[in-house]
Amino acid sequence: MKITICKTERDFDTAAAWRIIAQMLEKPNAVIGLSTGKTTGEMHRIVSDIYRQYPFDVSGVTIFNVDELTNLDRSYSGSCYTMIYDQLVKNLGIPEENFIMPPTISDDFERECRLFEQRLAERGGADLQMLGIGWNGHIGINQPGTPFERPTWVSPMDPIFEEKVRRETNVGPEHELGGLTRGIVNIMQTRKLILIAKGESKADIIEKAVLGPITTDIPASVVQLHPNCEVLLDEAAAAKIIGKI
Ligand code: GLP
Repeated sequence: MKITICKTERDFDTAAAWRIIAQMLEKPNAVIGLSTGKTTGEMHRIVSDIYRQYPFDVSGVTIFNVDELTNLDRSYSGSCYTMIYDQLVKNLGIPEENFIMPPTISDDFERECRLFEQRLAERGGADLQMLGIGWNGHIGINQPGTPFERPTWVSPMDPIFEEKVRRETNVGPEHELGGLTRGIVNIMQTRKLILIAKGESKADIIEKAVLGPITTDIPASVVQLHPNCEVLLDEAAAAKIIGKI
């Protein structure tokens, strides 16, 4: 596992953006997985800005997100589809058929999970996964306790995130919310993983994920087993590992 620590948040955003662009340039038909959230908005904006100024060929690139909310309208501003579309896909002009996202509404999510995996497999599988980490160590939406070998599935959300989504959407507790997420086994099958975190609120969980035991209690700790994984951090997120690595 390679660990890269960027001096500032700005350096982190720029370094992460260049990782995405480098993959697109290196493999014109790359299959690239993104993550939504506060960590990634700025890096996606930088990719879009660079593309706007210095366009390059993205006609063969496939974009997907590691997860998607379920049982909410896709047009909700917090849906992964809308976030990734607005932040990156529309700016690069990636055609709809190369933007692989599961639907947010379905009467058969089990089928949607298999279909999502199948569509990625048909393109040769994921080359790169930019992988955010939640405060409790979740990756995608796989919460602590999720077996590493479980494939793409609909997981409960982390409780703090769920509360935020309910507040923003006015969806009451009578409606079940969750998230369709690549399973940990699928994430691990990606050819290159980049675990990304910035800000001091991530320092504790980064220490556990990177230096602690590999355990389902901290789903992100599994990346220690990946043969081609980079952990990309800013100094604030790396605060508890600096001096120990
Ligand atoms: C959500 C997303 C994850 C993301 C995580 C971290 O749970 N489903 O994919 O990695 O949040 O978000 P943030 O970057 O806002 O801390």
